[in-house]
Amino acid sequence: MDSIWIKGGTRLEGRIPISGAKNAALTLIPCALLTDEELTLGNLPRLADVDSFAHLMNELGVTTKVSGKRGADHKRAMTLKADHIESTVAPYELVRKMRASILVLGPMLARMGESTVSLPGGCAIGDRPIDLHLRALEAMGAEIELAAGYVKASAPKGRLPGGDYSFPVVSVGATENAVMAAVLATGRTQLFNAAREPEIVDLCNLLVAMGARIEGIGTSHLVIDGVEGLHGADYEVMPDRIEAGSYACAAGITGGSIELVGARPGDMLAITNALAAAGLVTEFTDDGIKVSATGKLKPLAISTAPYPGFPTDMQAQFMSMLALAEGESYLEETIFENRYMHVPELRRMGANIDTRGRSAIVHGVEGLTGAQVMATDLRASMSLVLAGLAAEGETEVLRVYHLDRGYERLEEKLSAVGATIERRGG
Ligand code: UD1
Repeated sequence: MDSIWIKGGTRLEGRIPISGAKNAALTLIPCALLTDEELTLGNLPRLADVDSFAHLMNELGVTTKVSGKRGADHKRAMTLKADHIESTVAPYELVRKMRASILVLGPMLARMGESTVSLPGGCAIGDRPIDLHLRALEAMGAEIELAAGYVKASAPKGRLPGGDYSFPVVSVGATENAVMAAVLATGRTQLFNAAREPEIVDLCNLLVAMGARIEGIGTSHLVIDGVEGLHGADYEVMPDRIEAGSYACAAGITGGSIELVGARPGDMLAITNALAAAGLVTEFTDDGIKVSATGKLKPLAISTAPYPGFPTDMQAQFMSMLALAEGESYLEETIFENRYMHVPELRRMGANIDTRGRSAIVHGVEGLTGAQVMATDLRASMSLVLAGLAAEGETEVLRVYHLDRGYERLEEKLSAVGATIERRGG
C-alpha cells in the first residue's frame, strides 16, 4: 500500500493552485439525474471520491465522459447524460465505499418517482445517520420503506407534491437531498434551518442554471417551486475551501508563506479569521489569498459549527498547527463525535494534547518529531501530513487512500512550494 514520506523542517513558500471542491462535486454530479440532457461540470477535481461517484452514476445508466480539455492546468470536465436510467438502486458495494452516494436518493426520486439506496452504515468519524434526509423527503410527500439494509423512497403518484420541513439539526447532506428532490415536485417546498454552506449555494446555482426555481439561496430558508422539467447546463465547480484552508495551515505550521491561487475569500472567513487570530497575515490578492507566518503561532479557542461557523473539516489541520503554538489552545468539536482520531498519532510525534469527549486542550510544544503514523479519515490524514512538514526528521503517513479521496496531487502541490515529500509504494 502506498504511503506519503516527508522530510520535515522546511519553510514553505510559493503558490498552490486550489482545485475544484470535493464536497461541491459530490452534490453537483447527481444533479445529472434530474434531466435527460447533458450536464457538463468543469473544474472537477481528480479525486477517488469523484471517480467513485461517476462509477455509481454509470451503474444507474448515466453515461460519463471525462475530458481534460480545460488545459494543461490539470482542470478537467465531465459530461454526464442520464437520458436512459437503467436502475434506480444504489447498491451496498458502492455506497459502503462512499457515504455521499446517499445523494442520489433525492434526485432519483424526483426524476423516476422512486429510488432505493443502501444504508451507508457506520463511519470512522461517528454514527452519521440519514434520518433527516428521510424525514425531509417524507415531508415532501415521499413514502419511505426500510428493508434488508436498503431505504426505498417513492412518490405515490409518480411525482412528489412538495412540502415544508424544518431541520432539527443543520445537515449539509440532508439539505442537498431535499433541494434536489424539490426542484421537480408538482408544488412548493420550503426548507427551514437549511444548511447554507458555500457548496449548497453552488448546488442551488447549478440547479437554477438548469431551470429550477429556488429563492433564499445562501440563507437557511429555501423556497423551491417545482418545475415540469430541467435542462442541461455547463457549470464550473467552486474552489475547495477546505483544501485551501489545509494549505494555509501548511504555511502556518512551517513558518512559511503560501498564495492559495483561486481560493475565494468570501467562502472562507471563519478560516481566515482563525488564521489571523493565530498570528498569520492573510491578504486577499488578485489571484486568491496569501497566508504568511510572522513569528510564533498564537493559541486559539475554536468551536466547530455549521457554516458560517468554523468548519469541522478544518479542525484536525488547525489542531496540528496549534500543537506548535505558544500556549494552550481549546478546541470543541460540535458536529461529529469521535473526530479526534488523529490525536494519538499527533502525540506520537510529540504533540501534547488532552481530550475529553468533544473537547480538546492543545498545550503548545517547541517542536514535533517525525514518526510512522496513520489516520482513519481524510482530514485527520491531512493533519498528520502537516505535522510531518514541520517535524524534525522523517514522517511516513500510511493509508494514503484517505488523502486521495480529497486532496488532488498533494505531493506535487507541496513539493512545488519547497516541501520534501514523495509517494512511496509499499
Ligand atoms: C458534509 C460533508 C463533510 C462535512 C459535513 C459537515 C460532504 C460530502 N460531506 O457531510 O465533509 O464534515 O458536511 O460540514 O459534503 N445528521 C443526523 N441525521 C442526518 C444527517 C446528519 O443526525 O440525517 C447529523 C450528523 O451525524 C452530524 C450533523 O448532523 O452530527 C451534520 O452532518 P451533515 O451536515 O449531514 O454532514 P454530511 O452531509 O454527512
